[in-house]
Amino acid sequence: MTFPELSEHRAIEFTPAQLADAMNVCFEGYVMTFTLDAAAFERRFRSEGLDTISSVILKSGDAFAAICLIARQGWTSRVAAMAIAPSFRRQGVGQRLMNKVIDEARSRGDKHMVLEVIEQNPPAIALYEGVGMCKTRRLAGYRREPSVGLAADLVRIDPSAVIRAQAAECPSDLPWDFKAETLTLKVGFLKGFSLGDEAFALISDPPGQRVIIWTLFTRKGSRRSGHGRKLVEALAALYPDRALVTSVTLPDDYCPEFLTALGFAEVSISQFEMALEL
Ligand SMILES: CC(C)(COP(=O)(O)OP(=O)(O)OC[C@H]1O[C@@H](n2cnc3c(N)ncnc32)[C@H](O)[C@@H]1OP(=O)(O)O)[C@@H](O)C(=O)NCCC(=O)NCCS
Repeated sequence: MTFPELSEHRAIEFTPAQLADAMNVCFEGYVMTFTLDAAAFERRFRSEGLDTISSVILKSGDAFAAICLIARQGWTSRVAAMAIAPSFRRQGVGQRLMNKVIDEARSRGDKHMVLEVIEQNPPAIALYEGVGMCKTRRLAGYRREPSVGLAADLVRIDPSAVIRAQAAECPSDLPWDFKAETLTLKVGFLKGFSLGDEAFALISDPPGQRVIIWTLFTRKGSRRSGHGRKLVEALAALYPDRALVTSVTLPDDYCPEFLTALGFAEVSISQFEMALEL
């Protein structure tokens, strides 16, 4: 038995409120503090493609001891969250749990296992390297402070149309957050914009001080003609009191010059994408 001292469960056995609780307990002392409730759990993990049957929860009596959430797309499984409650750390539970989800992914015929890990979290990086995962690229996040921008003729369009255009105009090896398949799961929370049918953006504007840019691109034939700049300035003008941010999942080589030219700065937290061929 893999976990003689713990009972093994699947995420499907729990309510979203219980899963949020499991996350809060197991991520205690994490490099970024957070507290999830049921709604936040649903919004985040359903829109990342959570597979509640492949996701494993470990308990010690009534207490949550570990959580490993698995998201899936085609032949790829992604570790969407992995944490061991403080009193169960450094006892090999994390390693056994990772080996278990890797074995299960292999048995269902998956070809790749991926995840993102915060660069400033060496214990987690060591755990993943110990089970054979390798760093594939560094991922960064960007932020532009609130500014007046420059208004332009932005047209609201169906966010699904932006996702279809992205699939045709952008590389397909994007990190999980930006893949067309993932964006499709988030589409109900997104707003789509087009500027003269040359440049496109998908954003979310949840209550608060940030607008999150999920994709922003110019058609292949129209690049280096100022459309991207115009689109960013137009978004800033639409939300002059909010910072424009990206998630911390932009590959290092993915248009940093464009973002810095437009007044974005890299945020202090960064990630590594890691992968294992199964
Ligand atoms: C990272 C985490 C999941 C590791 O789980 P764990 O059960 O304590 O790990 P294990 O006992 O199975 O350790 C396996 C290997 O991971 C590495 N590791 C684990 N904790 C470590 C630490 N504190 N410092 C350095 N290496 C560590 C070691 O390589 C270890 O092998 P070793 O014991 O032979 O040295 C756990 O510390 C945790 O839940 N942290 C908070 C949440 C988090 O950071 N999650 C990762 C999100 S991407």
